[in-house]
Amino acid sequence: MSDLKNDRYLKALLKQPVDMTPVWMMRQAGRYLPEYREVRSQAGDFMSLCKNAELACEVTLQPLRRYELDAAILFSDILTIPDAMGLGLYFEAGEGPKFERPISSKADIKKIPNFDPNVELQYVMNAVSTIRKNLQGDVPLIGFSGSPWTLATYMIEGGSSKAFTKIKKMAFSEPQTLHLLLDKLADSVTTYLNAQIAAGAQSVMVFDTWGGVLSPAAYKEFSLQYMHKIVDGLTREADGRKVPVTLFTKNGGMWLEAIAATGCDAVGLDWTINIEDAKARVGDKVALQGNMDPSMLYAPAERIEQEVQTILKGFGNGSGHVFNLGHGIHLDVPPENAKVFIDAVHKFSKPYHQ
Ligand code: CP3
Repeated sequence: MSDLKNDRYLKALLKQPVDMTPVWMMRQAGRYLPEYREVRSQAGDFMSLCKNAELACEVTLQPLRRYELDAAILFSDILTIPDAMGLGLYFEAGEGPKFERPISSKADIKKIPNFDPNVELQYVMNAVSTIRKNLQGDVPLIGFSGSPWTLATYMIEGGSSKAFTKIKKMAFSEPQTLHLLLDKLADSVTTYLNAQIAAGAQSVMVFDTWGGVLSPAAYKEFSLQYMHKIVDGLTREADGRKVPVTLFTKNGGMWLEAIAATGCDAVGLDWTINIEDAKARVGDKVALQGNMDPSMLYAPAERIEQEVQTILKGFGNGSGHVFNLGHGIHLDVPPENAKVFIDAVHKFSKPYHQ
């Protein structure tokens, strides 16, 4: 069994007793930190940073030096899978991720090569094992992937999108073509996450950033079904410990019961739902992660502390809550405000765990 100095993040995901509520932040390593921008400029472009295990480890650890975070998250990106599938990922300044060869037909999908995560994505596994070693058991390491639906939006739209017209056209006019792609992606995500677990990830999270743009029926058919398949195929134990799985659908508040029914350990919440209501609906089944509006970090310290207390009170007594933002931290947030947030979670949560 791996010795962890601080395992309250893993315990809370399994609803085991903790001394205070654990906290981490989505996108905690990134451009809001001057020390990240420094390393990023050394590395050149973003993917070179992801592919250099030493530098990826360095930026993973940066936020842990500043803040008393209860978990580290692998520094990488969800788009490594489509890149390994040969779509040619690149980042255009100010425009986000793009693909040179997006998917537009059944023939394109049939041409996607099978890949071995320990070969084509070996750089990710190197980053995982390097980070795990350098953490020296201080806190657990989270591995992650995008959901099949979210990955498919980038692969079919060719980059970021607002209306998702191309993928929805495929979903509603040629559903079997999209299912072929989603099924392939579900298998790839499963082997990718299992490889991360074998390399040292102690918990995994699936980011379904765009599931919330679907109707309830389409969400179940095109997104949730495939996350369910992933949950079924994951390694759930390593090093003599459970490896908890968190599913996060942004804007998925309407579907918490269905998400919880997949057999995941925890459901990630964005800020558009009260955690108290979420707990009443699914709190007997799963742990909850979230859910402060990331824009609250622009507020004065007292307002941030007040919001933390409101959310802690909403969840109430006992374990099963991992505090987080409802989505990634914004890149122009003052780093000292993130410290106010993290310290407040620890300071104000102790009475709920007595
Ligand atoms: O949370 C963490 O600290 C771990 C690192 C992480 C990154 N991306 C680093 C990153 C994680 C978990 C992701 C996931 C990711 N990537 C998602 C899902 C999470 C979510 O927010 O819902 C999505 C949709 C992506 C795709 C992607 N990659 C986008 C939209 C961007 C931003 C592009 C831009 O220019 O703003 C990226 C690039 C990216 N991924 C950056 C970081 C730190 C910024 C790159 C830089 O340094 O320029």
